[in-house]
Amino acid sequence: MPGWKKDNYWSKFAKSYDEATEYVVGKPLRQAVRARLLQEGGLGRLVEFGCGTGFFTEAIAEKAVHVLATDISSEMLQVAGERLARFHNITLQVADCRKTGYSSRTFDTVLVVNVLQTIDKPSLVLKESSRILRSGGLLLVISYTDYGLSLLEKMIIGIRYFTVFGLPPIGRIRNFSPAEMERLVEREGFEVLQSELIGGKPKAIYLKARSTPAASSGRRFVEGC
Ligand SMILES: C[S@@+](CC[C@H](N)C(=O)[O-])C[C@H]1O[C@@H](n2cnc3c(N)ncnc32)[C@H](O)[C@@H]1O
Repeated sequence: MPGWKKDNYWSKFAKSYDEATEYVVGKPLRQAVRARLLQEGGLGRLVEFGCGTGFFTEAIAEKAVHVLATDISSEMLQVAGERLARFHNITLQVADCRKTGYSSRTFDTVLVVNVLQTIDKPSLVLKESSRILRSGGLLLVISYTDYGLSLLEKMIIGIRYFTVFGLPPIGRIRNFSPAEMERLVEREGFEVLQSELIGGKPKAIYLKARSTPAASSGRRFVEGC
C-alpha cells in the first residue's frame, strides 16, 4: 500500500497488537471503552486517526454514516480490513494524522484512540483535526493512562508494556491526566464538552470536544490575552 513505512513502530505488532494490549491494560478496559463508544450516535462522516486493528472502529461503524479509518501502518490496516470486512460504510486508507491532505471542513467527527500518548507533537494531530472538521464538528479523544495509580501499579504496567512491545515509540508513553488532555485540546481552539475517566486500573480518558469557529478558521486562542 502506498505510504507504508517499513520501520513504523506499530507495523511489526499488527498481528499481536490486540492480545498484547489486553495483557498490558487488561481486557476489561478495552471492553469498557468499546461499550462507551457504543453509546455514541449521529457521528455523521467520521474519520478515525490511527485505527490500528480496527477494534474500536467496529464499535462506531453503525454510529456514523461513513467511516474513513486511517493509519500510518498498512500492516495495521490489513488486520483492520479483515475485522471490518462486513461493513459497507467503512473505507480504509493510509494517512499520517499530522498531515492528512484531506480537504478542510470535510468531516463531522474525528476519532483518535490511543494515538496522542504515543506520538511526537500530539498538538499537530489536534491542529489537523480542527482543520478538517466542520465548524461545530466533534472531536472524540480516548487515551489509556496510568494517571491516579500507585507507583507500584505504574511499574507493573510499564514492565508489561516492555515485555510485549519493548521500548516505546518516542522513548516513553505519555500518561495524560484529564486536565492535561483538556488543556491540549483547548489550546487548539476546541470547546471541551465532556471529559471523564473510565475503567478500573488503569483507566482511559474519554474526552469529547467541539470544533469552534475559531478553531476551524485557523485562529487560535493565545494564552494570557
Ligand atoms: C497504540 S496504537 C492504537 C491503535 C488503536 N487506535 C487502538 O486503540 O486499538 C497507535 C496506532 O496509531 C498509528 N499511528 C502512529 N503514528 C501515526 C500517524 N502519524 N498517523 C497515523 N497513524 C499513526 C499506529 O500505526 C498504530 O496503529
